[in-house]
Amino acid sequence: MNPINNPFAPGAGTQPPELAGRDELRETIRIAIERVRRGLSTKSILMVGLRGVGKTVLLDRMREDAEGTGIQTLRIEAPEDRSLPAMLAPQLRQGLLRLAHNEKAKELAQRALRGLTGFAKALKLKYQDIEVGFDFPAEPGLADNGDLEHDLQALFETVGAAAKTAGTALVIFIDELQYVQEEELAALITALHRSAQRRLPVMLVGAGLPQLRGRMGRAKSYAERLFDFPEIGPLKPDAARIAITKPTADNDVTVNADALELIVTKTQCYPYFLQEWGKHAWDAAPASPISRQDVELASQSVIAALDESFFRVRFDRLTPAEKKYLRAMAELGAGPHRSGDISQQLAREVTALGPTRNQLISKGMIWSPSHGDTAFTVPLFDQFMHRILPGDDWKE
Ligand SMILES: Nc1ncnc2c1ncn2[C@@H]1O[C@H](COP(=O)(O)OP(=O)(O)OP(=O)(O)O)[C@@H](O)[C@H]1O
Ligand SMILES: [Mg+2]
Repeated sequence: MNPINNPFAPGAGTQPPELAGRDELRETIRIAIERVRRGLSTKSILMVGLRGVGKTVLLDRMREDAEGTGIQTLRIEAPEDRSLPAMLAPQLRQGLLRLAHNEKAKELAQRALRGLTGFAKALKLKYQDIEVGFDFPAEPGLADNGDLEHDLQALFETVGAAAKTAGTALVIFIDELQYVQEEELAALITALHRSAQRRLPVMLVGAGLPQLRGRMGRAKSYAERLFDFPEIGPLKPDAARIAITKPTADNDVTVNADALELIVTKTQCYPYFLQEWGKHAWDAAPASPISRQDVELASQSVIAALDESFFRVRFDRLTPAEKKYLRAMAELGAGPHRSGDISQQLAREVTALGPTRNQLISKGMIWSPSHGDTAFTVPLFDQFMHRILPGDDWKE
């Protein structure tokens, strides 16, 4: 059918035509944010899940939901190489400038802006990437110790006080949180903890790969109690069907039942794959309805497309040793796998492979669901590894 009208939207962080199966979680977040605004005890929320399950689009949708009810939001994406204070400071400044428009909160917001000046100036030596405009001169003694943990806490207190007076809350949305350094995570956790104790309306809604949970726990042992970690996974089959049939029906196109079931099976209900299969099945079908044969035809082009994009970008960032490690995992199947079994495939000692495994974890390719276990963070990556490195040559 006409690709111009194709409603499906595969892509990193691209809003889907129908955000299926996530209403309950959105409602949970809505309640948590409203509670925080009212000064009631609430946990911050960190969504964890594999690549392509829809964490980013969910985070953005939740942010829109919150903004719609007058909440002040900040949106940050943690890249692998920038410091948390550097990402936070400019966003915080904008949020505070908005708060300063509120008559009641004006003075407190300006005080928080003075705190931000002190914060950035004091930490600049350590985090040279901090760049933020200064609107007010620093107030000596306010968030200017030069110690991130202490200063962030003080800063959140002033920001929280301003938000509270304005009758709103400040909610910080951070994506890819697993990339933030442990020491910076620790400071963030402490600052949120302090705000929660003082019932100040400051909250974090974060998203990251499954290893985030362990990183938070290592940064501060009490983190597990301070946060909820909802797991974002593949959709339930019913929601997966809706993800396909709602957008098609909106365009007066139907999908045959057996075609739909084939999509559900092939995608294993992973959101990213649903978008790809939906898109290619639409393009393959000559006219409505979309048939099973169309989906079969589409599957070949989907896999080629995934191999060229979704899988490929991740593969290209790997060293030869890392590729070999992942290929050995793939040899064992989808996983998770025991470290001993992987090393056996490679005829090496477990300890000798430790550095490679750690590198792969920090690149976000694998994670450890439990001690000694290793799993892919990218769904269906095992099958891709078989396609890109077929046969036994990789063993050499
Ligand atoms: N609930 C959903 N229903 C249908 N499609 C969805 C849903 N959630 C996400 N998608 C689609 O899945 C794809 C991946 O979404 P997104 O980029 O948010 O995933 P992610 O978990 O952030 O992945 P990554 O870990 O790689 O950043 C997008 O094309 C998006 O449109
Ligand atoms: Mg994402």
